[in-house]
Amino acid sequence: MDDLIPVVNRLQDVFNTVGHDQIDLPQIVVVGSQSSGKSSVLENLVGRDFLPRGTGIVTRRPLVLQLVNVPKRKPSRRPPVGDEPADSEEELPERAQFLHLPDRQFSDFGEVRQEIQRETERLAGANKGICRTPIHLKITSPHVLNLTLVDLPGLTKLPVGDQPGDIEIQTHDLVMEYINKPNSVILAVSPANVDLVNSESLKLAREVDPDGKRTLGVVTKIDLMDVGTNALDILTGHVFPLRLGFVGVVNRSQQDTLAAKPIQEALRFEREFFRTHPVYRAIAARCGTAHLSQILNQLLMNHIRERLPDIKTKINALISQTEAELASYGAPALSSQVNRTSLFLRLLTQFANQYNASIEGTGAAELG
Ligand code: GDP
Ligand code: NA
Ligand code: MG
Repeated sequence: MDDLIPVVNRLQDVFNTVGHDQIDLPQIVVVGSQSSGKSSVLENLVGRDFLPRGTGIVTRRPLVLQLVNVPKRKPSRRPPVGDEPADSEEELPERAQFLHLPDRQFSDFGEVRQEIQRETERLAGANKGICRTPIHLKITSPHVLNLTLVDLPGLTKLPVGDQPGDIEIQTHDLVMEYINKPNSVILAVSPANVDLVNSESLKLAREVDPDGKRTLGVVTKIDLMDVGTNALDILTGHVFPLRLGFVGVVNRSQQDTLAAKPIQEALRFEREFFRTHPVYRAIAARCGTAHLSQILNQLLMNHIRERLPDIKTKINALISQTEAELASYGAPALSSQVNRTSLFLRLLTQFANQYNASIEGTGAAELG
């Protein structure tokens, strides 16, 4: 997500200047059967260790994760006095906050995970029940994109523990509620060690997104396939037709979790896995969390580009209206509003040009 942060921030600055709405990026929703690796995928994308993961039914309430970008702290202009150390451009730490705990700020992501577990049990019980009321978590950081990600309980067929008899319908309806929204990008997660034909996530995604415009296939547990089998046919689109394709990933295993393997180490391991694998090394550039993140960046960028003409139209209308108002007062000079608007248009055009240049091959990173 790193490449898009400066672009979105600049657009947001421009929007703030003219009092335009926020750019509404799509929310990213993970869907899949129980223990397919949904929480692991989300966590890897965010690059922080904070989600409860594990075998069995761990995610039992929706988690709506709002990432909020804040600028880095600016250095003070005042020169140091006497022996006083000079101001450094020290960064503000990342902060997490729950909607249900407005007075508490978290900086320890281990505590965030504990609070998600506590809050899950509070409404969904200590056994295996699920609850449709979401937990809202906000992470504020200079290193994130303004974006919402949703972690969901898994699709399930047979009730276990204290789950009600209609658990299949409950999980189905809950998932539908989130992926139905046209503004959702669906990460349809399927584990590589289960036949893709039986993938519940792809089935549901196809119902709400028949053209496959906003469904991205994610194949997890590539490392757990039987000896002699591989996911090459799936990843190259020969098994299930999906417009945006499939990305294979290797998340942390249950043992990795028990050993508290850090996320950066896991991402390194994943990269090496694909790079050195006799079958996947040929397509290694199109595998793994880093590639998944790039594809998501492209989807978000396309979304912004689609919205630009509409935004431009609104701004043009605003200019005409302001000019008409000025004329009716017989005012000779441009108001500061008009100056700000023309600035906005200039920046917007610049942005669009840079974007067009970037899709011709230089990469979105150049936009910053
Ligand atoms: P969820 O129930 O879909 O959210 O799945 P989780 O993210 O909680 O993962 C379920 C279990 O599978 C956990 O024990 C993970 O460590 C494990 N797991 C997830 N993805 C992978 C993977 O790609 N490889 C391996 N070996 N284990 C994985
Ligand atoms: Na799980
Ligand atoms: Mg989960």
